[in-house]
Amino acid sequence: MAYKNIIIEKKDGIATIKINRPKVLNALNKETIIELTDAVLTLEKDKKINVVVVRGAGDKAFIAGADIKEMKDMNVLEAKEFSELGHNLLDKIRQSRLPFIAMINGYALGGGCELLMACDITLASKNAKLGQPEINLGISPGFCGTQCLPRLVGRAKAKEMMLTGDNINAEEAKRIGLINQVFEPEELEEKTYEIAKKIASKSPVQTNFIKSLVNKGADIDMHSACALEVSYFSSGFGTEDQKEGMTAFLEKRKANFKGK
Ligand code: CAA
Repeated sequence: MAYKNIIIEKKDGIATIKINRPKVLNALNKETIIELTDAVLTLEKDKKINVVVVRGAGDKAFIAGADIKEMKDMNVLEAKEFSELGHNLLDKIRQSRLPFIAMINGYALGGGCELLMACDITLASKNAKLGQPEINLGISPGFCGTQCLPRLVGRAKAKEMMLTGDNINAEEAKRIGLINQVFEPEELEEKTYEIAKKIASKSPVQTNFIKSLVNKGADIDMHSACALEVSYFSSGFGTEDQKEGMTAFLEKRKANFKGK
């Protein structure tokens, strides 16, 4: 699929997906969501890729939300289809074997905040602003915000954010658990790729297992979740990466993981 709204770059096991609509602060229209979904599924099959960084073009926004111009005249069925399209994309990110790092260099609002919540690690510049301002447009969040936000930050804070529609800054987002780390704007890119590189050097089997266990475990009871952990932990012992990791430790050298 040829992309009009996103740019994909690949280097050293890291793929970057850049949402490239800076004139509208990288707002997500249908076409962009379809392209993003295709990119996630395509990268999933690329065995040379171990980590994905998602970022927005320009220096102002990660994603300023779903495209308001496109949404304005939607009817009920079109809005349903649009919401499902967004949910499907975020589900593909959550289900992906690849760890996703969201690099938040500015506004992450509405659908942008929802997209970052589907990612595994979120890194923001000090000047980032996050929020679910849908209520100001006379709608409610439609890409899982009402469900993901309370699960991440607790019901009280999630309701406060969604009912007031107020944005929060990066430090506050970190304090409530929405963002992993905050950096100076000029450091964000370097730090993001430092972390991406570190994760890309680990066993891809295990990055997949850990992501999968945390995500699946959050949706099931503790007893079943622990049984799942036993099963993943033990199946790790059938991989070359486990032999390599432990041998490298005992030989006092850096492990060279192959994802097998
Ligand atoms: N959709 C479409 N266009 C958008 C947009 C969006 N979400 N956000 C910004 N733009 C456009 C603006 O219309 C403007 O276009 P023009 O130059 O043609 O006028 C351009 O991007 C630049 O934006 P501003 O001039 O508004 O920039 P600013 O610096 O003054 O303000 C902002 C920045 C606070 C982010 C402001 O643009 C804003 O509030 N944007 C909307 C944020 C929002 O409400 N997001 C939620 C969308 S709904 C949603 O996401 C639903 C869901 O859950 C799926």
